[in-house]
Amino acid sequence: MKTWKIALLGLGTVGSGVMTILHTHATRIEKQAGVKFEVVGVLVRDVKKPRRVKVKRELLTTEIETIWEKNPEIVIDAMGGISPALGYIEQAIERKCHVVSANKEMIAAYGTHLHRLADKNGVSLLYEASVGGGIPILNALSQLLKANRITRVYGILNGTTNYILTKMEEEGLTYQEALEQAQEFGFAEADPTADVEGYDAFNKIQIIANLCFGPDTPVLEQEREGIASITGEEMKVCEKLGYRIKLLASAERTDAGCCLRVVPTLVPYAHPLSGVKNECNGVFITGDVVGDVSFTGKGAGALPTGSAIVEDMLNIVRGWTFTPDKEGLMREDVEQSTGVEKV
Ligand code: NDP
Ligand code: HSE
Repeated sequence: MKTWKIALLGLGTVGSGVMTILHTHATRIEKQAGVKFEVVGVLVRDVKKPRRVKVKRELLTTEIETIWEKNPEIVIDAMGGISPALGYIEQAIERKCHVVSANKEMIAAYGTHLHRLADKNGVSLLYEASVGGGIPILNALSQLLKANRITRVYGILNGTTNYILTKMEEEGLTYQEALEQAQEFGFAEADPTADVEGYDAFNKIQIIANLCFGPDTPVLEQEREGIASITGEEMKVCEKLGYRIKLLASAERTDAGCCLRVVPTLVPYAHPLSGVKNECNGVFITGDVVGDVSFTGKGAGALPTGSAIVEDMLNIVRGWTFTPDKEGLMREDVEQSTGVEKV
């Protein structure tokens, strides 16, 4: 049985989730995939910090060179931010390591560059955990809905803001109290401004658009607004009118390009997204042949995010990588074979 050598960059909320799952699910992984994963090094800022998971002291290091000396085959980015994460991931790819990343900020900004580098070096780059926590949304878009031209994706893509809105509405918590709880549970970003101002959801919808529409599709319109100014009183008025306020992200494709938006939206009680609560996310995908498909599940937290990372590790073993859509290909196929008009 092959043993894959794993390097973990970061041992916070997400890194701890990965370590826990690799420990608790080792037998299942061996039986299902016929492989073992061995963590050979863990990069952190402070090796003396108390950890939520048991890790052998000799695995922890603050030096990236110590990680490379262990010759990992898969590098997991669970540290966040652009610098130094981007440089480390470039080094990993140039060293022919496969990469799994949870870092939406980096993938949204540098995903195309990293895909080119990964292709050049013959390695896989997967980042399911960067969007929707434990929901397999990117794998569905990249591997399972390939017959479809995706025209629209929309939904709740940030767990922290959904948690805040739920707690304000259902338990009467203040915005600040609910945010502090989301931080305690590890849902929020290191700087929660990214969550509450909509930057995190925008990064995620950008990643989805790059994957579904292709990175060269022009962005015709974009809008980003957060939830920081929403009050409990406003929520009560909406409730009386039969609506919940949700921070919705959307990506829509037209023939000329695409529109990306993150905006607080009134969602009627009858719509399934109004029932998506706490840190859960909900995503609706429209494909030109399948119609609407939806996913809901935990969008943040140690184990759901760790689940997405371990799934990607298994997908690397299967030889998968994410490949952005090649715009126009399916449309031409459909028109030629069925005579369906452009809509
Ligand atoms: P945390 O802040 O909990 O953990 C970050 C980890 O990275 C820590 O272990 C920290 O070390 C380490 N680290 C940070 N900077 C450096 C550095 N310069 N050198 C070495 N180590 C460093 O973050 P999360 O686990 O919450 O998030 C990690 C990534 O996953 C982010 O990109 C985030 O956006 C993404 N993500 C988070 C989710 C969540 O629910 N929290 C869900 C999906 C994605 P130390 O512990 O010593 O400080
Ligand atoms: N801060 C992010 C959120 C983590 O709350 O959705 C998951 O990507």
